[in-house]
Amino acid sequence: MSARKGLILAGGTGSRLWPITQGLSKQLMPIYDKPMIYYPLSVLMLTGIREIGIITTPQDQAQFQNLLGDGTQWGVQITWLVQESPDGLAQAYLIAEEFLDGAPSAMVLGDNIFFGHGLPELLASADAQMDGGTVFGYRVADPERYGVVGMDHDGRVTQIIEKPDVPPSNYAVTGLYFLDGSAPDRARAITPSARGELEIVTLLESYLTEGALTVETMGRGYAWLDTGTHASLLDAANFVRTLQSRQGMQTGCPEEIAHGAGWIDDAQLSVLADRYAKTEYGAYLRGLL
Ligand code: TTP
Repeated sequence: MSARKGLILAGGTGSRLWPITQGLSKQLMPIYDKPMIYYPLSVLMLTGIREIGIITTPQDQAQFQNLLGDGTQWGVQITWLVQESPDGLAQAYLIAEEFLDGAPSAMVLGDNIFFGHGLPELLASADAQMDGGTVFGYRVADPERYGVVGMDHDGRVTQIIEKPDVPPSNYAVTGLYFLDGSAPDRARAITPSARGELEIVTLLESYLTEGALTVETMGRGYAWLDTGTHASLLDAANFVRTLQSRQGMQTGCPEEIAHGAGWIDDAQLSVLADRYAKTEYGAYLRGLL
């Protein structure tokens, strides 16, 4: 188990998915057979994190609570937090300051999906680093849409730039940030950007200038999908469906991770499997017993 606390940032406006997300939070939408938030939640659970703060908009919180409750069904403890308006990713550390209570954290964006051979090991190595920060770079075809990592010839990070016109590399910073206990203090020192947001890139720069930021790259064997547009949402669903039906294994299944980690016992898994008895998901859970 990790001493680190988890955060899922699941607010936002989802305006690129309108009209769908006018009545429903993006992070509650399905990615094939599961709600989107299951996938980032699974990443935190795979890291061994059991204390998790979930940040939502005020109006969406009750629906997330209906879905996830307090987490005890999966052996984790969920704390519910609210972001009044979408003022930027770094604001999460101010909202969560009391919950974090000085602990190091792993924050994941509620619309990011990670899959890859070796992911548990990569997460464990970032988790083991208690001081400074770790972020993950992923090669993309269209870096100008993302926060981009600039590196020198030895692979050391020299800069991180948000949506650059001329990207210094093809490596985008993914929506998963392992930061030490100083993140809330650093977030407080940030002034809003031209677009009025507390930028995560600015927070990461504060680590970078002190030589306290590590960038791990996720290689070819990984998939990092964001699900913010209609096309990328459908692509992600197809990816999950293809993978799961080919392998006969689930990705992003909190019950399986909790059971594998010994956080829930066979009897509890059986209860959860019964609940979904009419679905393939339920049959899969039953098959784990
Ligand atoms: P974005 O995709 O940048 O923003 P969005 O979800 O509001 O969508 P759109 O651009 O279509 O309006 O957000 C990335 C993730 O971070 C997503 O899961 C929502 C979350 N988020 C917040 O919770 N609060 C915020 O202030 C911002 C900017 C994003």
